[in-house]
Amino acid sequence: MEPAIQGVTARRTVHRSPESRVAAPRSAASESDDWWRSAVFYQIYIRSFLDSDGDGVGDLGGIRDRLGYLALLGVDGLWITPFYPSPMADHGYDVADPRGVDPLFGDLATFDALIREAHEQGLRITVDLVPNHTSDQHAWFREALQSAPGSPARQRYYFRDGRGTEGSEPPNNWQSTFGGPAWTRVADGQWYLHLFAPEQPDLNWANPEVVTDFERTMRFWLDRGVDGFRLDVAHGLAKSADLPDMPDPEDAGGVMDEVEERDPRFDQDDVHELHRMIRRVLDSYPGRVAVGEVWVSDDERLARYVRPDELHLAFNFRLLEAGWDASQLRSAIDDSLAAMHSVGAPTTWVLANHDRPRHVTRYGDGELGRLRARAAALVQFALPGVAFVYNGDELGLPNVDLPDDALQDPVWERSGHTDRGRDGERVPLPWSGEKAPYDFTSGSRTWLPMPDSWADLTVEAELENPDSMLSLYRRVLDLRSKYANPPKDTLEWYGAPEGCLAFRRGNGLICALNASATDVPLPPGEVLLASGRLSGTDEARMLPPDTAVWLA
Ligand code: GLC
Repeated sequence: MEPAIQGVTARRTVHRSPESRVAAPRSAASESDDWWRSAVFYQIYIRSFLDSDGDGVGDLGGIRDRLGYLALLGVDGLWITPFYPSPMADHGYDVADPRGVDPLFGDLATFDALIREAHEQGLRITVDLVPNHTSDQHAWFREALQSAPGSPARQRYYFRDGRGTEGSEPPNNWQSTFGGPAWTRVADGQWYLHLFAPEQPDLNWANPEVVTDFERTMRFWLDRGVDGFRLDVAHGLAKSADLPDMPDPEDAGGVMDEVEERDPRFDQDDVHELHRMIRRVLDSYPGRVAVGEVWVSDDERLARYVRPDELHLAFNFRLLEAGWDASQLRSAIDDSLAAMHSVGAPTTWVLANHDRPRHVTRYGDGELGRLRARAAALVQFALPGVAFVYNGDELGLPNVDLPDDALQDPVWERSGHTDRGRDGERVPLPWSGEKAPYDFTSGSRTWLPMPDSWADLTVEAELENPDSMLSLYRRVLDLRSKYANPPKDTLEWYGAPEGCLAFRRGNGLICALNASATDVPLPPGEVLLASGRLSGTDEARMLPPDTAVWLA
């Protein structure tokens, strides 16, 4: 598998200028402590990026092998999903030991080498921490099961007596976001809380031991050189005191959904003191960053997580939730900018991740979906602030319809086979060759099956094709480093025809999107990049439907 892709490093200058910041060594790139304010992060869903040992599951060695590719793509940093020892009930989001590496993914020496080599390439590394819960195989939870009700070991989690006759009903009506009740009963009759799968018991952050242990975990990875953290379920750490019933359990959104106001499971005011504690630890390591996964009911609630003494960044899912509609996109942009400006934090822009259907599919799939995803990339990267790319977005991968017997996401079982879960957006990346597994692995099988139709979507094929999604991403990221990051995080709207939007950044960059069904005139200016073919004549150029353009 090696030859085809390793060549990417040699081709690095194809679309990049010689002064490209990506090739800069880390020392040059890290001059500023707030590098993250306008960074592009690439999310690596580790199981699906690249397998280096033939077992069909991606790993740390796979990431090391492709640092050249990531530098060539032009991203600034990586977010790597959990690689800690885990029984994999939720594919690593059930952590049995937060300060180790699961043998499935490699070992600590490989991790240290990855950090070193990434920094040599000018790439930052952020890792996913899971503070809300542990695995049921974590030493603490095992100890809790062997200890008596009320014991200190049980107080690290939420153990409660049940309601009803002999406590046979759960302590309250909370639902797990994966489906079913959020409580499971143990042998002595008590119940424990799990907002996710039963294999993911919730930690009790009111217990100082939990806080101290998390600080230890942060320092463990910070001391190894990580540039920051993605904090899983950052809005869930504090639960409403006394665990009151939910007003309407049937209606409750989960973590991959907006959280309704008054949902006692999430977004409680006490959570902010915990984020201040986390920030104090990070502040003793200059230049590091924390981005929170925060699903809340509105932009103002989101902004509270990134006040100056809390997290640096929070995922803003407004673009991911907006339909293909100029006015929806425009209000997503306006509301997000206003909310973040009110607290002085940069906005983040997310089109996709491992929990939501890929946006090529969301936008209509096939050629239409891809055309729109190309246009969306131009909008996303023109916006002020931080952009997240989910691995495979740069190839234009769609969601995959997997057969029932291939599904692995706990959501499938927990929902009684009514929700197919998130496997469709987690299928491994195709690297080269004509047939599955497209050099994702040297073995014959992959943890989720790969479609037969991806030969044109491999990294190798797309590198060779100037019209591919990958070529577009490389060009737009290169241009972004020159144009899209003026010191002021501002944006000014232009008048645009119905169904379109156009805005201008402080340095003169203009981005226009046509989400309507007819051609519209291009705004004046020199075209820097278009997501698709322009129409009209040289004198009167037009922007076709589902197309975006950058102008100077
Ligand atoms: C977050 C993760 C998701 C995981 C859940 C439980 O939402 O993004 O993948 O299943 O937390 O840890």
